[in-house]
Amino acid sequence: VSIAEARLPEELPVLRRMMEDYLAEFDPGEDAATLWDDEYYRACEAGVLAGTHSIAFAREGAEAIGFLITRVETMWYRQSSQIGHVEELYVKPKFRRRGTGRALVAWASERFRRRGIQTATASVLRENQAALGFWQQLGFEIKVHYLFKPI
Ligand SMILES: CC(C)(COP(=O)(O)OP(=O)(O)OC[C@H]1O[C@@H](n2cnc3c(N)ncnc32)[C@H](O)[C@@H]1OP(=O)(O)O)[C@@H](O)C(=O)NCCC(=O)NCCS
Repeated sequence: VSIAEARLPEELPVLRRMMEDYLAEFDPGEDAATLWDDEYYRACEAGVLAGTHSIAFAREGAEAIGFLITRVETMWYRQSSQIGHVEELYVKPKFRRRGTGRALVAWASERFRRRGIQTATASVLRENQAALGFWQQLGFEIKVHYLFKPI
């Protein structure tokens, strides 16, 4: 498996297709075109241009078999302090449990470290226990309960 940054905008459709498969797997009732619409992908591209976001593909041969989107956030109370978020991570089902997810996260972590970032985060939907197991296996610990309420 090789990991490299996506070429934008040419490879946006490849990303979009995998995002749609990701959503279909977890929330078949949800419409990918509404959740991850053009605005979402424009924001990704703008973030990559601004240097806050990275989009990377894991490839086996020419086939993209997984991706990761990261975002670097500057702490609102301290400009010198940054945190690296893994916003999205996905490996195509038939390529799972072969170390690709781990390799994508290692790739992102190395890039975070090179920017002087010392902490990475990931968010997992409560019902996605498999992904929680994955992150914990990689050494991530639950530090915060993130609460939501429709108001
Ligand atoms: C989560 C995901 C990215 C993992 O990718 P992957 O390439 O299969 O992961 P790896 O092979 O690198 O797994 C590394 C370790 O994590 C753990 N792990 C991976 N998948 C797991 C699962 N389903 N259940 C429990 N532990 C798991 C294992 O310990 C694994 O090591 P092992 O195979 O040697 O036991 C992949 O399952 C996926 O795309 N899921 C759907 C999308 C998703 O949930 N994304 C994360 C949202 S936050």
